[in-house]
Amino acid sequence: MGTELVVQLLYLAAAVLFIGGLMGLGNPETGRRGILLAEVGMLAAVVGTLLHHDIITYEWILVGLVLGSAIGTVMALKIPMTKMPERIALSHAFGGLAVMLVGITEYHHRGAGMNTLHISATGFEVLLGGLTFTGSLMAFGKLQGFIGGKPFVYRGQNASNVTLIGVSLAVLAFLVYAPATPAAFWFLVAGGLLLGVLLVLPIGGADMPVVICLLNSYAGLAASATGFALGNNVLIICGALDGGSGFILGMMMSKAMNRSFSNVIFGAFGATPDAPGATTAAGGPAPNEANLDDAVEILRSARTVIVVPGYGMAVSQAQHAVRDLAQALKRIGSEVRYAIHPVAGRMPGHMNVLLAEANIPYDQLFDLDDINHEFSATDVALVVGANDVVNPAAKTNPQSPIYGMPVFDVELAKTTIVLKRSLNAGFAGIENELFVKPNTMMVLGDARKTLTAFAAKLKE
Ligand code: TAP
Repeated sequence: MGTELVVQLLYLAAAVLFIGGLMGLGNPETGRRGILLAEVGMLAAVVGTLLHHDIITYEWILVGLVLGSAIGTVMALKIPMTKMPERIALSHAFGGLAVMLVGITEYHHRGAGMNTLHISATGFEVLLGGLTFTGSLMAFGKLQGFIGGKPFVYRGQNASNVTLIGVSLAVLAFLVYAPATPAAFWFLVAGGLLLGVLLVLPIGGADMPVVICLLNSYAGLAASATGFALGNNVLIICGALDGGSGFILGMMMSKAMNRSFSNVIFGAFGATPDAPGATTAAGGPAPNEANLDDAVEILRSARTVIVVPGYGMAVSQAQHAVRDLAQALKRIGSEVRYAIHPVAGRMPGHMNVLLAEANIPYDQLFDLDDINHEFSATDVALVVGANDVVNPAAKTNPQSPIYGMPVFDVELAKTTIVLKRSLNAGFAGIENELFVKPNTMMVLGDARKTLTAFAAKLKE
């Protein structure tokens, strides 16, 4: 069997495994298997590429493999779950940079002699690669706090961005017509890099996960273009899978926040004047701060409890403490269920992953639509570090930036116990009137410590 056939078979296996991986990732129960399939697929793609007859020497490839694997291993081990969006943004930035550099090398070697397909693909490659590189770095900087997380807006912003996109596409068309025009090629490289910065500037930190999905999609399309330029089937297929799945994920996230995709990209969400951090506006009702003992007594007498986890559970890594408390509650005869909001936390499936890590059975986890009607018949809604996803303003205040987002009706439970460190706002930066409802008990402090204390007192 010729080497070329082996390479193509490995590429085919990789593509099939990637599709299987994506299918597995559609459900928490099969997610781990999905990741494993995708990993084996990537190994097949790497081995296939290493067998390629175009490779003259392996020295630099080996250096890259060792260095890249070392950096990847350290990143995977050191970066906590709460920083996952930042890590993903960085990975996309490097992916975009790699694609752009491959495009530049290709043009450098074969520029003037490229046929229409190759020059079109190479042009797209550098445009989308550059855009993904700087756009992802911007997303990383906004999430990490290096750059202000607020949208940066100026007059005529959308119009000038659309014009730059139009001019870049026109230059790309010119380059296809006249490949031996390096100035047009370098304009595309610069245009891509500039567009990445300009397109992410007006988007607020709250929408960064959606932007990261979109950049993921661009990175995929850029990789696909690279596949066409290099005549590499696995890059074409994987790039298309990456591009499609990133786009679909971004759409799903926007839908879960009840926002249109265009509103996320052009809406400058979060550019509203700063809301006060706390809900204790002068003259308004004061939040009902409760102590541990009072909250434990309420829990002790509750027959039904619904736990609503949010981003704060991820921050305090309280998932194991949640499980321990649930076990203590079950021992005294309570029924415990978990209400999972599609955008709780900072990435899709964030809460599912954390609760699975603590071995909480999937059948106790319920989606918004399946459990929201149950709160009115529930003794205690235990809100663990969630804020926006339990904010009644989404239902009652048309001026609120989260108006229309589906939220949990926790205020309908007999008692709502909210665990957070302060009265500060959540991700959307807005007040939450849940905290001042008469049946709400605010137990302030780190969620993990509070839950651990609850469980210890319940066992007494
Ligand atoms: P948030 O509204 O962000 O609220 C989290 C709360 O956790 C904060 O108010 C914070 O209050 C509290 N907290 C932080 N550290 C804590 C700790 N150690 N112990 C206890 N509490 C702690 O979270 P949410 O309700 O999960 O809503 C998610 C938000 O992110 C939504 O606005 C959503 O639209 C947005 N978003 C999500 C996604 C995805 S895919 N999940 C994507 C884009 C945007 P203190 O500081 O007072 O403790």
